[in-house]
Amino acid sequence: MSEYVFAQYRESADALLKKLGGFRPRTLLILGSGLGDLGNEVENPVFVPYEQVPHMKHSTAPGHAGRFVFGRLAGQDVAVMQGRLHAYEGWSFADAAYPVRVLRLLGAENLFVTNAAGAVNDAFDVGDIMLITDHIKLFAGSPLTGPNVEEFGPRFADMSHVYTPALQTVARQAAKELDIRLQEGVYMYFPGPQFETPAEIRAARVLGADAVGMSTVPEAIAAAHCGMNVLGFTLCTNMAAGVLDQPLSGEEVIEAGKAAAPRFAALVKACLRQA
Ligand code: HPA
Repeated sequence: MSEYVFAQYRESADALLKKLGGFRPRTLLILGSGLGDLGNEVENPVFVPYEQVPHMKHSTAPGHAGRFVFGRLAGQDVAVMQGRLHAYEGWSFADAAYPVRVLRLLGAENLFVTNAAGAVNDAFDVGDIMLITDHIKLFAGSPLTGPNVEEFGPRFADMSHVYTPALQTVARQAAKELDIRLQEGVYMYFPGPQFETPAEIRAARVLGADAVGMSTVPEAIAAAHCGMNVLGFTLCTNMAAGVLDQPLSGEEVIEAGKAAAPRFAALVKACLRQA
């Protein structure tokens, strides 16, 4: 079952074009839990709540404002999503990836995604930022399920380099210049909304995961499918279940996000300047 046809993406893109005049974002920035404030630094902002985009679903997660901010950030024309759509809210993967395709139609070439996640790698600390080098998504479903929308890409999309090597180089260099400790690793997608069990985390570690989270992968797959460059950062807001002998909570995720926000923002802006 395809949830959207090309005409719907086109209609959404045209509605945004009308609001934006000649403005064309080059990079789409999707900000995760507690990290949305970077959107408030956009110069000459044009705010578009998701409800105003035809066919687009709305974000309901805590810490997610639910709007686009279009404008200039770190010398680049950007579209910032303050809040994203997650499968655990009841949205499909195609819903979650919808805005990526719409922004592609507006001409966006890059997707920068950030998220909060639990650290599986026990060499990581809470507050560490991890450059995503690859992902694992073993569960059923994909944003590309259903009849292929040929306008975006091929039926069987290559996922050898979802996270663009050249942008990873930019990120490493930026982190070095800013003296930010940048971890690297594999992000494993779990659908949530419950946190994982300690047994699931042990399994994730065996499979090669360094962090686990409930977002990012649907958007990254859709972006790779339609030929966008992707850069992903994970903020380790907690050690994953069972790593420490303490329960996990959504509040600690938001708090850790806020604490790391200035560092995170500096890194993302430095990457924007060079991307
Ligand atoms: N698991 C999944 N998602 C998360 C976590 C976690 O431990 N922390 C923040 N998002």
